[in-house]
Amino acid sequence: MKLSIVGTGYVGLVTGTCFAEMGNSVICVDIDENKIEKLKQGIIPIYEPGLESMVKENYKKGTLEFTTDIKEALKKSDVIFIAVGTPQGEDGSADLQYVLKVAQDIGKYMTHKMIVVDKSTVPVGTADKVKETIQKELDKRGVNIPFEVVSNPEFLKEGSAIEDFMKPDRVVIGAENEETLEVMKELYAPFTHNHERFIAMDVRSAEMTKYTANAILATKISFMNEIANICERVGADVNKVRIGIGSDKRIGYSFIYPGCGYGGSCFPKDVQALNKIALDAGYKPRIIQAVEEVNKDQKRVLAEKVIKRFGEDLNGKTFAIWGLSFKPETDDMREASSITIINELTKRGAKIKAYDPKAMDEAKEFYLKDNPNVEYTKSKYDALNDADAMLLVTEWKEFRSPDFDEMKQRLKNPIIFDGRNQYNIEKMNKKGFEYYQIGVPK
Ligand code: UGA
Repeated sequence: MKLSIVGTGYVGLVTGTCFAEMGNSVICVDIDENKIEKLKQGIIPIYEPGLESMVKENYKKGTLEFTTDIKEALKKSDVIFIAVGTPQGEDGSADLQYVLKVAQDIGKYMTHKMIVVDKSTVPVGTADKVKETIQKELDKRGVNIPFEVVSNPEFLKEGSAIEDFMKPDRVVIGAENEETLEVMKELYAPFTHNHERFIAMDVRSAEMTKYTANAILATKISFMNEIANICERVGADVNKVRIGIGSDKRIGYSFIYPGCGYGGSCFPKDVQALNKIALDAGYKPRIIQAVEEVNKDQKRVLAEKVIKRFGEDLNGKTFAIWGLSFKPETDDMREASSITIINELTKRGAKIKAYDPKAMDEAKEFYLKDNPNVEYTKSKYDALNDADAMLLVTEWKEFRSPDFDEMKQRLKNPIIFDGRNQYNIEKMNKKGFEYYQIGVPK
């Protein structure tokens, strides 16, 4: 099939590349000329395992093209995906200006019958707005070209985006028209085990499915973080409780790991957007609001443990931070807990030595650029030199079984605050570490 994908962020680039990999002709469109030029040279703006080689191969083969010219892309496609950002507006709602700008362009330049797919995470009712916007432009031109707007939320995770796209748990399509549904089914057939994982529904339910999925996952995390905080105070060990409850199939083991709070570009934004959607519809969503509140506080928990141990005045103290990105296998720093933790410590006078396998440039250039008290080191061990303690914030694989003797030699004090409960408590105590975890009393 001939496809265009507008927006070359995580979702757009992965979607376009995976469709190209299956033999479709795909044109990726972005307004950012610099980004498009770089993509043509095989320079990928994000770190995502497996993506770079797939982009390069498909570009070489000609199945994947990059352009800033949406008009040309529209001429050559039958299906166009809108995968541009929906950043958070000031009131927590999703800002639809980029989505609607693309809709406007589609209406302005489309030349033949098309399917328009909303891939961006958008509030319920957006497909109707996109439809209206396109129709308005067509009316201005005085032409009548048939089109349908479909909702196709994306469920991929950063760090395993290719894998998630290629082998999805499900593909959700919200469409009103049987013929359109058949086209979408065909397009996704290589990924859905012969349609077994293809779920069709109406447009609004599809839009709501996306928010519900992210909100329930965020709820699991905040719930578990709350349990962790209670465990610490009543002498229970959340690691044991987690295993105890996960064994119940109805609960399951996944997404119940306590930690430093959830970050990233999706959960924080989508939970707040869902709150706004509910409020606008005249309903006060109490659980959803609590999920957000618990998460905000959870991002400070590790720093609070440090303050409890070292006191409010951290002048003259240095802390090593292992892991800056919001989760492993990505360089994404959006809403990362490391930002909150580092700022809490430096505003009390502490110095930071930080190490992350992929996210240090992002941190330096954007997210922590105004914080002069952060030094970045070449290796995880270098970050420990003369530090008063180490804080493990992101559970990258290379932090899983470090050389503890080397760590002890480099640290001023053998103290570890583990925000992801990575090490065995008994072993750490035996090795002589003062070792703190989330949800375990000390
Ligand atoms: C999330 C969803 O998992 C995807 O299904 C969804 O498609 C995506 O948002 C989106 O809307 O685009 P992502 O933000 O890439 O994906 O990251 P996750 O792997 O879900 O992790 C989110 C955060 O939760 C991380 O900060 C992670 O550390 C935290 N987390 C996760 C926990 O604290 N505990 C857990 O048990 C699991």
